[in-house]
Amino acid sequence: MQKLQTPAPWIVGLVVAGLTLPATGGAPHTPGLQGDAARGAQVYAANCGSCHSLDANRVGPAHRGVFGRKAGTAPGFAYSPALHSARFVWDQRMLDRWLQNPQALVPGTRMGFRLGDPQRRADVIAYLRQLSAAAGH
Ligand code: HEC
Repeated sequence: MQKLQTPAPWIVGLVVAGLTLPATGGAPHTPGLQGDAARGAQVYAANCGSCHSLDANRVGPAHRGVFGRKAGTAPGFAYSPALHSARFVWDQRMLDRWLQNPQALVPGTRMGFRLGDPQRRADVIAYLRQLSAAAGH
């Protein structure tokens, strides 16, 4: 009797990676949550707009291009010493951790706002990411 051919596990892994990577550009921090940039624009207006805008520094720094930018480097914004000396780039994972609890990620930061809902975080991050892509970052 002939044995059924099953693909080796590493082939399955490659196929899965090939299917998921172009869509997300890497594994999202919360697996399975897809951000929606259009919804994210609304989340942004409702939750971030009181302190941030895309192109002007206000209570918080300007946000256009923040996805993919080094933390604490918006031109002309007076950052807290903590965020000013941070050594990382804003990507999906760091933004998710930041919005969950800025003080836990960067102790001493002046941003006291938290976004508790993982789906809203994913949406607003998708929005910031889309703006960076449009700006050529
Ligand atoms: C109550 C005011 C306030 C709200 C609301 C707020 N932020 Fe902030 N945010 C700040 C301040 C102030 C800073 C600068 C913190 C520092 O210098 O330590 C900041 C910094 C940031 C940074 C770091 C940017 C950089 O250039 O390194 C990101 C990213 C960010 N905020 C995203 C958001 C998002 C997304 C929302 C909405 C979900 C939001 N913030 C809501 C006040 C706010």
